[in-house]
Amino acid sequence: MTTSSLLEEATSISKQFDISKDQLVGISEEFIRLTDLGLKSDGMPMTMIPSYVTGVPNGTEKGTFLAVDLGGTNFRVCSIHLNGDGTFDLLQTKSVIPRSLMVGTAKELFSFLAKKVDEFIRTHLEEKFNEELGHPVNEHIYKLGFTFSFPVNQTAINRGTLIRWTKGFDVADAVGKDVCLLLQHELDLLKLPVHVAALVNDTVGTLMSRSYSSPGESVTLLGVILGTGTNGAYVESVAAVDKLDNSAAALADKSIMVINTEWGSFDNDMKVLPRTSWDDAVDLETPNPGYQMFEKRVSGMFLGEILRRVLLELHEKGYLFPRSSAPLTTAWSLDTSILSRVEADSTPDLVAVKSIVETDLGLPTTLPERQAVKLIVEGIGKRSALLAGAVIGGILVHLKACQSNPVVDIGVDGSVFEFYPGYEDLMRVALKDVIGEDESKIRIGIAKDGSGVGAALCALVA
Ligand code: BGC
Repeated sequence: MTTSSLLEEATSISKQFDISKDQLVGISEEFIRLTDLGLKSDGMPMTMIPSYVTGVPNGTEKGTFLAVDLGGTNFRVCSIHLNGDGTFDLLQTKSVIPRSLMVGTAKELFSFLAKKVDEFIRTHLEEKFNEELGHPVNEHIYKLGFTFSFPVNQTAINRGTLIRWTKGFDVADAVGKDVCLLLQHELDLLKLPVHVAALVNDTVGTLMSRSYSSPGESVTLLGVILGTGTNGAYVESVAAVDKLDNSAAALADKSIMVINTEWGSFDNDMKVLPRTSWDDAVDLETPNPGYQMFEKRVSGMFLGEILRRVLLELHEKGYLFPRSSAPLTTAWSLDTSILSRVEADSTPDLVAVKSIVETDLGLPTTLPERQAVKLIVEGIGKRSALLAGAVIGGILVHLKACQSNPVVDIGVDGSVFEFYPGYEDLMRVALKDVIGEDESKIRIGIAKDGSGVGAALCALVA
């Protein structure tokens, strides 16, 4: 195989991940259409979940809360002290969720979570805990915000039944159950003085946390996750959410509600999203084929797998790695961080790519092979960022946000946004395509640990 044919093939593959300005505009228009429908009634393609969070913080909030976060590869337990001046102190432990629990029973998963809360309280809050150990269980001393980053049908600030799992989780008997009650039950069995006060999607937490700590007077309108999965939540006027029972007492004097869009499942019908044969192959490997089609083109869990599929095909066609393909034959074996690290290498000889492929895949490379890998990574990464920009732009158009605000603040969390070089710039290219020159009014800030702090803020208002 000649060098030029390898690079021609890699260039042509990379082009398959291109998206034109017209496509991006079409994607954002379809997104706006589906968000409107989702606000009108239940059972629409975009879930548009009311969060029952009816206010956003301004930085003056105070108090100490517990928070737990289930949503990706790790389970986190933290205690958060809000200082009331936009800052906070956070103490946290992280545990990897064993794969067997991601696909086991609800009892196994939720009792694991409760045990981690127990360990955390005993280790980090021991003194206070011992004082309180004598109290009856129903004296719930700690208020806990539960960040649960999967689609739930939320009916109150601390009530919500699981609609479906995403991101590789598949605990069948939890679907349709109230996840707050599942957790509360296990906490009560351990006699922990903890009350699950708020159920929070990570995007809602990110929005709250950014709003608490964002500089200046501007209000944060959107919270975005670009990590293992992707999703966005934004501040909507209650009057626009036709499907809410606006006459309900709980909403009587409320003007806004944070809406969790669940944009990961935008365009599951594949009307406007780009599609390659590798996307289709990855989709078929997941426990939920045909769902989360937007997420499967954008978020960290899937980008490494798309790359693996492309590289394997190039090997099978005789273009790449002639000696071995063994490391490429195992599904989900390429971590998405590979894409960020490859993208970051701008040396002429791609020395970092050389060491990444050698260390992570155990494969020696020639320079043209490394150039090919880089071209493909760029295609996959750029498509992800442009798609993210198109839907963020869609929300801002829907809200007419740039017409009514001099600065539009957005909080983002997640490893793809944080570590993929140039991701924000690429997102801004799509934002400009969708909203024009107003793109310059958008301020994007990282909301690090946003979901934990946000859960505390929700527990506070609950
Ligand atoms: C879930 C969302 C979540 C997002 C980011 C998606 O798979 O459906 O609820 O916000 O991942 O964690």
